[in-house]
Amino acid sequence: MQKKGAIGIFDSGYGGLTILKEIVKVLPEYNYIYLGDNARTPYGSRSFETVYRYTWQAVQWFFEQGCHLVILACNTASAKALRTIQQNDLPLLQDAQHKRVLGVIRPTAEVIGNFTQSNRIGILGTSGTIQSNSYILEIEKFFPDINVYQQACPMWVPLIENNEHHNKGADYFVKEYIDQLMEHSDNIDTILLACTHYPLLIEKIRKHTPADIKIMAQGEIVAHSLKDYLQRHTAINTLCEKQGTIQFYTTDNTDLFNKQAILFWNNIVHSQQINLSTF
Ligand code: DGL
Repeated sequence: MQKKGAIGIFDSGYGGLTILKEIVKVLPEYNYIYLGDNARTPYGSRSFETVYRYTWQAVQWFFEQGCHLVILACNTASAKALRTIQQNDLPLLQDAQHKRVLGVIRPTAEVIGNFTQSNRIGILGTSGTIQSNSYILEIEKFFPDINVYQQACPMWVPLIENNEHHNKGADYFVKEYIDQLMEHSDNIDTILLACTHYPLLIEKIRKHTPADIKIMAQGEIVAHSLKDYLQRHTAINTLCEKQGTIQFYTTDNTDLFNKQAILFWNNIVHSQQINLSTF
């Protein structure tokens, strides 16, 4: 008989909190464990091998905490590590049939095409996510007629992580990347924020984007997709604990995490520190 566990939510830092916030609105009864790998963030500029290694360490830690289901609430980790973990690592586990790891790219790609009328979508993400072409490949599977244009925004995560995103200097980089994206096509009508950090920049992104363009964040999409997944996968669903608890973990200093997390979570959090290097 398998012991029940919390749902694990993973991000390279704080960004996944924007996803967890929406998941908790839709599925408040479940237990959650959030882990931010703040000591090694950002992932966006790191190699495939490094992002994979860091992410697999985190997933193994979640399994050790008793989680059966882990969500990579980070586009970069979803783009660079998810497939290898699903195809190579999970099948080797003794209790593989009770373990699942999901990402945020596929659920977003499944629905994003429903929001465009011009059939032209812009994707803003980290360098890692954009270079992987994951969104182009996934959206093509569900919406073959849609043209996808991409723009990497390497300065946005550092601005947010350093709490500089409300300051004037941020305007320069927000405008710069939006302008570069819009140069690809003058008919883009929907922009996806394909990085879990970017919702914090929403005011500035709106300010520098033509008013008739829809700007989509992923939180709600991922939350509804998870609800649907749990309804369809009853074996995994019954292994998820449901007391409505949330625990926060970080690989870096907890005081710093608690202070910065408020920006993403809008509430006080009490985190605990862990070390992933033993995995
Ligand atoms: N929040 C992560 C994402 O969604 C990226 C942050 C980072 O570069 O570590 O891609």
